[in-house]
Amino acid sequence: MTIAHISDLHLNFEGKHTNYKKVENLLKEVTSLEPDHLVISGDISEDGRLEDFDFLRELLIKFKYLDSALTTIIVGNHDIYGTALSIEDALLYPDRCKGTDYDFNLKRFHSFFEELMVDTHRISENDVYPYIKQVGAFFILALNSIEEFSTRNFTASNGFIKKEQKLKAEQLLDNFVSKGSPLLLAIHHHFYKIKRQKDTFAGQILTKIENNTMKLRKKKKLLATLEKWGVSHILHGHFHDQKIYEIGNIVFSNSGGSIKNGHATFAKYNLLEFTDEGNFITTRTINTESFELQNQV
Ligand SMILES: [Fe+2]
Repeated sequence: MTIAHISDLHLNFEGKHTNYKKVENLLKEVTSLEPDHLVISGDISEDGRLEDFDFLRELLIKFKYLDSALTTIIVGNHDIYGTALSIEDALLYPDRCKGTDYDFNLKRFHSFFEELMVDTHRISENDVYPYIKQVGAFFILALNSIEEFSTRNFTASNGFIKKEQKLKAEQLLDNFVSKGSPLLLAIHHHFYKIKRQKDTFAGQILTKIENNTMKLRKKKKLLATLEKWGVSHILHGHFHDQKIYEIGNIVFSNSGGSIKNGHATFAKYNLLEFTDEGNFITTRTINTESFELQNQV
């Protein structure tokens, strides 16, 4: 069983960013490996534009991965709330978030990828999350970690899993996953504290801002619950870093650096290989212009 994991594509139709070719070539490379499954863990768009969701949809069709058996997609904060593209936007952004219809935007996002929800287990048609999907002998649980806008979440980028979602997930696990089955979690937010260089003023300020506006709240409690449920691997993005790490018994794959990694043409993805000999997770960096493998760690 092989799973390719990418995240945080941040397609930006309106801002005319040039990452379209990069995203297309990353998908071309990843799907050419014919992984058993592809996980895309949120922030498909920079600003929640429908053109950007459609762009990814068309790519998935092109590479024959618009198929629930082959691809799992989850929502990111940018897909619901968008972003501030200018200083003027930044001033208006909290009001824009306040006026956002969260449920409408969540459903609108998934309406572009309906084919990827086929054969998923949900509590009801009306609940997009949580959902569970079986892929071979594995189960993928998808949680929505995007916390609603509030004065304590004024950049709408923090994460939180409400008790209600946990209870629904528990119900799905009880009904559809037999004990001991391999269980993976797809979620947008990361589980670690961001560390930057603390010896510079800018580093200290950025760390403070990021840790207050990019965090998954109550993550320790959530982790204890996930361990109890038997989650072995967590696939996420949000923080733009490519990283494989462990907390307790859980292995994490962050593919937040797939596209936004500081390099014009390099793209990254994590490859999770589950074999009889063991589980192997690697980060691969490819040059999306030459398709040359730059690095594998
Ligand atoms: Fe995000």
